[in-house]
Amino acid sequence: MTSPISTHKHHDILVVTSNNPPVNALGAAVRQGLVAAIEQAEGDASVKAVVIRCEGQTFFAGADITEFGKPPVMPWLPEVVDRIENCSKPVVAAIHGTALGGGLEIALGCHYRVAVSSARFGVPEVKLGLLPGAGGTQRLPRVAGVPKALEMVTGGGMIGAKEASDLGLIDRLIEGDLQQHAVAYAEEVKDIRPLPKSSERDDKLAEARANPGLFDDFRKANARKFRGFEAPEANIKAVEAALAKPYAQRVLDERNLFMGLMAGSQARAQQYFFFAERKASKIEGIPDDTRPRDITNVGVIGAGTMGGGISMNFLSAGIPVTIVEMAQDALDRGTGTMRKNYEATAAKGRMTPEQVEQAMGALTPTLDFAALADCDLIIEAVFETMEIKQEIFTKLDAIAKPGAILASNTSYLNVDEIAASTSRPQDVVGLHFFSPANIMKLLEVVRGAKTAPDVLVTAMALAKKIKKVAVVAGVCHGFIGNRMLMPRQVEATKLLLEGATPDQIDRVHVEFGMPMGPFQMADLAGVDIGWHRDVNRIENIRDALAAEGRWGQKKNAGFYDYDDKRRPSPSARVQEIIDDFRTKEGVEKREISDQEIVERTLYTMVNEGAKILEEGMAQRASDIDVVWIYGYGWPVYRGGPMFWADTEGLDKIVAGLKNQEARMGSDFSFSQLLLDKAGAGEKFTR
Ligand code: CAA
Repeated sequence: MTSPISTHKHHDILVVTSNNPPVNALGAAVRQGLVAAIEQAEGDASVKAVVIRCEGQTFFAGADITEFGKPPVMPWLPEVVDRIENCSKPVVAAIHGTALGGGLEIALGCHYRVAVSSARFGVPEVKLGLLPGAGGTQRLPRVAGVPKALEMVTGGGMIGAKEASDLGLIDRLIEGDLQQHAVAYAEEVKDIRPLPKSSERDDKLAEARANPGLFDDFRKANARKFRGFEAPEANIKAVEAALAKPYAQRVLDERNLFMGLMAGSQARAQQYFFFAERKASKIEGIPDDTRPRDITNVGVIGAGTMGGGISMNFLSAGIPVTIVEMAQDALDRGTGTMRKNYEATAAKGRMTPEQVEQAMGALTPTLDFAALADCDLIIEAVFETMEIKQEIFTKLDAIAKPGAILASNTSYLNVDEIAASTSRPQDVVGLHFFSPANIMKLLEVVRGAKTAPDVLVTAMALAKKIKKVAVVAGVCHGFIGNRMLMPRQVEATKLLLEGATPDQIDRVHVEFGMPMGPFQMADLAGVDIGWHRDVNRIENIRDALAAEGRWGQKKNAGFYDYDDKRRPSPSARVQEIIDDFRTKEGVEKREISDQEIVERTLYTMVNEGAKILEEGMAQRASDIDVVWIYGYGWPVYRGGPMFWADTEGLDKIVAGLKNQEARMGSDFSFSQLLLDKAGAGEKFTR
């Protein structure tokens, strides 16, 4: 097998090139090749310096994640980085694309770093439940300073070349041909001794030693963000260790922390999720050569919260939008909100005022439905009733140009019935955005019975362009995400009658790692959503709350009471309402254990997920996990409901559901797939 690492000499500079598509991951062959190249440089007296560069789209994007969990193949990455740093001749990293994780660690092992201005740098290991374990937690603070290193290792985000250069992470920014300039740079530095080694620097650590409260302040400031995760604290500890010399000892601390994380369940879940997210974009049963349709402009019907948020995605990606409303005041309100949202983003420094104007300038607000005639994609985001949707699609059918994609943002309704109101059901698809649509990453792409393959391919490609993660769902009530919410809601409400409090149920969910529980979510979304608006028709607890104006946070009262800072506290009035209902329904009050709440609200979701799979409404179990992590904040360190069920053991899930079967009554029925897999000792996600 040929090595992905090749070398050639340019006068007295040895140019080492990696060619390991798609992202030059640092697999065993790359690691072996790099060490061999350094040995070659050491052994050749005519070589005065070395340049390490990559072919293809990027510099090394990190360790090869597919090797994790397999028997290790030598040399380990930390040894490779050390070998580079200990080379007796200067080594220059020539960086383009993204130097990530182990890739940045290789760069930090080099004595010098040059990069093109589009290059980006990061240590995303924390997102895989890990830390940069090849000396990254030790070298990065020495080069970029402790505060920046803490931010980078715990956040996992990327910084641009300009910032990297300002921090001293990059020695020179290159305009023009990277290889040529890197070789010229190597010529400039080839005789300089001693060689600058990241591991030996102490100036920036000394600055941090002068501020001993730095680490605890950082922990406190980020406590909410890190809640439940193990990796951020391990990253902080490793950087903290860097302050104490000697370096060689601290690298061992880093190694131990890394191995501890690697052996844990969170890292497994987060690494599983890395591949789950990428798999979600692949559509089964579609010819490989299916080409997407061109989308150069988009129409949106409805300038409410959803329509406005949806439009912003396209505008931010530079795609012009025509937005249609029925009345001028609604149109003005909608576009006004969009502008306000953009301006708030600009105020936080995440957009320039020019970008705000550019985005708003690409928006055409109108009351004229016929203005949609030229749009390549038209997304309807109006009231959630079939009659209205069908009426709109019939009108669209009459005016949209041939080949235009007609999409509905419905969150529950039957896309096939909507498509049937047109003469072109092959062009109709569901595009279910999640609120706030300009922020939430998830997009459910609902595949109708007649949706054409190129329409699906277009939807998936477009999702990537607007920075969403798309998951294909089949036509069923609530698709993947909202369908699984239903059994949870039904059982949570019944548990109130049986003796649990909203507070207890929400606490169990928050302790599990969800951002909020079912009743906190109801208060946030609005208790009045979907309410029939008849104050005299009180059929359940929710009706009773809505009739009293307890509509949730917006009214400072819902399942909880809220103070003027929107801080919730348990409500005596809500407890009275629950107690009344209990008496009326003749339900006996009893102690509810936290475990029963888990079994009736979380295990039932797994069961519904299994039904979704067995009906073919999701392509794969991992897609369900992507929906729940990106759409509802399921803790990524538990890998999503299906991965979590596998981790718990499907036999345990089935046993828990059997415990509760009698209490759940006719609201519950077992998924055959779940029973079969549990019986056969199988998993959903492998
Ligand atoms: N290992 C193995 N495969 C990887 C990989 C990695 N580090 N990074 C990406 N890939 C694969 C993807 O799975 C995908 O494969 P398929 O085409 O088969 O689906 C392919 O490369 C392309 O990836 P993307 O679709 O993500 O491409 P993109 O252009 O959108 O993004 C990227 C490119 C920014 C590099 C992105 O892939 C990325 O963020 N990769 C992960 C980087 C990372 O986490 N690095 C740290 C690794 S851990 C580490 O280094 C540990 C250590 O310190 C010892």
